[in-house]
Amino acid sequence: MDDRRPSSLAATATEGAAGEPMVRLRDVSKVYGSLRRHGADVEALKPLDLDIATGEFVTIVGPSGCGKSTLLSLIAGLLPPTTGEIDIGGRPVVGPYTDLGIVFQKDLLLAWRTILDNVLIQAEVRGLDRRRMAARAGELLNLVGLSGFEEFLPHELSGGMRQRVAICRALLHNPPLLLMDEPFAALDAITRDQLTLDFQRFWQRDRRTVVFITHNLIEAVFLGDRVIVMTPRPGSIAEILAIDLARPRNLAVRDTPDFARYTRRIHDIFIETGILKAE
Ligand SMILES: Nc1ncnc2c1ncn2[C@@H]1O[C@H](COP(=O)(O)OP(=O)(O)OP(=O)(O)O)[C@@H](O)[C@H]1O
Ligand SMILES: [Mg+2]
Repeated sequence: MDDRRPSSLAATATEGAAGEPMVRLRDVSKVYGSLRRHGADVEALKPLDLDIATGEFVTIVGPSGCGKSTLLSLIAGLLPPTTGEIDIGGRPVVGPYTDLGIVFQKDLLLAWRTILDNVLIQAEVRGLDRRRMAARAGELLNLVGLSGFEEFLPHELSGGMRQRVAICRALLHNPPLLLMDEPFAALDAITRDQLTLDFQRFWQRDRRTVVFITHNLIEAVFLGDRVIVMTPRPGSIAEILAIDLARPRNLAVRDTPDFARYTRRIHDIFIETGILKAE
């Protein structure tokens, strides 16, 4: 991703009033009812409170099954909470919230559509003007280093390139809020490092609000302004770490004592909550 910045890519944030968090969760919990006869309900999330500021990069780490994806679906309004309330930009989320972008672990590109047409799905489902959106899709693809690949099919791209396409698709309608569910998990280590660096640079350009789930502690500390560490299921917030490392962060920061202190603290929380067993 290079540093050119078409002005049309600046976020048109539907932000909360000054001082208000962009995303606000109060007493939000989720219990999944069993679909099986005599099946037990699953308590995925205990009631939790969380504020996410406009422009903040929040990362979430926690063990498998602790409710991270559930939390993201609740924020996006794709699932109703069992208790509590969620506001975005000061307005309650009462159904699918459309002024956001979502990137999943799998890129979910449609195999038969070109790269450009995959990005433009977003415009089609939202009924946006195709010509205007095609120009913006071209800008975004250029920004992530994929100019020239517009007419390729997904199978002709590498995993990292495909994931970049998925990010472009999530950003096409210029959402102020981006929700990312382990977006780099399927990538090899080198591609993952590169995409992490690129994405940080990209985010610094206009600092839209990002909620980013990962299993990877190093990725969480590297990218986050704050890291939310979750307990095992039923998930709750064990601790929130504010990451006081200057940006842009380069890969060498991962070898510094300051960085190690943060990852050590997350390890300790995992031991305290029984996720990791100390020797
Ligand atoms: N649609 C659903 N119906 C019933 N139970 C569900 C549903 N989705 C998730 N769960 C349950 O809720 C709990 C939390 O699931 P969730 O997918 O949110 O975890 P996660 O933290 O994202 O895990 P992972 O790191 O493996 O992706 C799990 O026990 C899971 O079985
Ligand atoms: Mg998940």
